[in-house]
Amino acid sequence: MKINSVKHTYSSINFKSYNMIDNNTGNSISTNFYHDSEVLQKAVKIIENEFPKGTNILVYAGSNGEEALSINTLFDKRFKYNIYSLDKSSKAIDFARKGIYAIHPLAEDGFLVNHNSENNKQFLSKIFHTNFIETDKPSFPVNNVSDPIYTIRFDNIDLYPQRYFIPKESFKENVSFIKEDIKDIEAFNNHQKAGAIFFRNAIYQLTDNNLSGVFKHGDRPNLETNKRKIIQELVDKIYNKLEMNGIFILGNHLQEHLYIADRTIPLEDTVLVDDARNIRFMKTHPVIEALKKNGRFKPLFEFLIPGLGNNTLKLPLIWQKIK
Ligand SMILES: C[S@@+](CC[C@H](N)C(=O)[O-])C[C@H]1O[C@@H](n2cnc3c(N)ncnc32)[C@H](O)[C@@H]1O
Repeated sequence: MKINSVKHTYSSINFKSYNMIDNNTGNSISTNFYHDSEVLQKAVKIIENEFPKGTNILVYAGSNGEEALSINTLFDKRFKYNIYSLDKSSKAIDFARKGIYAIHPLAEDGFLVNHNSENNKQFLSKIFHTNFIETDKPSFPVNNVSDPIYTIRFDNIDLYPQRYFIPKESFKENVSFIKEDIKDIEAFNNHQKAGAIFFRNAIYQLTDNNLSGVFKHGDRPNLETNKRKIIQELVDKIYNKLEMNGIFILGNHLQEHLYIADRTIPLEDTVLVDDARNIRFMKTHPVIEALKKNGRFKPLFEFLIPGLGNNTLKLPLIWQKIK
């Protein structure tokens, strides 16, 4: 991938639906059900084909559990698959263990309560309602409705009240919610291998690649972190953890794919984006470079990355371990 045009829109770097910040790190732990559903649906098909007898599925950056539970609804025979929803944020894991999910009719996953007419959304809405039931508003907060981003977006919480859902009793028997950092992935689960590893929309946190530092006036991005080194170490660990033919799944957000050049990147490998603050992007994609190195992974499917190449650039988000 070579960067030559970037069309920035704020929606491409913000997360919707479950809006939360981890107070300890200041990082976003936001997510939503069926986030980038096309990728989730493709990934589940591949897992079913490659591992018909079952496998371990590690959903790192699993936040409050909505991603792992969405994945679980997509399996035909889910009892064969052990799904681990893992996140380094205690706050996210506390919410995951409470197991009550708020859906706002105007949120990205609002089709779950609205019964959207698009075919695929109708399908997702149907499988969601097969596996979840509506419940009363709990006594503790489930979504951060006082968060200014949330209230601006949804305007009037009384006019558009959110609704609350819990998984049906037997539905999440094969899903565990555990506080874990992906840095410790090799030892996780007694060193057992996994057929699929998800780490979506979190590499930017691991590498300090928060694009609001570029686009938002005043913020200064961190140029000290050696992104290539962190990414290479991550990819090596994921390679070691995967079974042969296992897959690694990436996120679709702009800041996972457009990297601020840190001080280790030679000038000729950068594109200038902000003259006054001397901020540059890397010309190449460090995650794709690391995955392609030594022919260990092959890309399986490409998906559109909003905001890159004037909204036309597709990148591989599902990678398979092939040797
Ligand atoms: C923006 S959310 C993305 C959630 C979800 N994967 C999605 O795409 O909707 C990023 C999540 O990654 C988690 N995270 C960041 N670094 C992590 C790490 N090193 N190990 C495990 N989780 C991490 C954060 O705590 C946060 O919950």
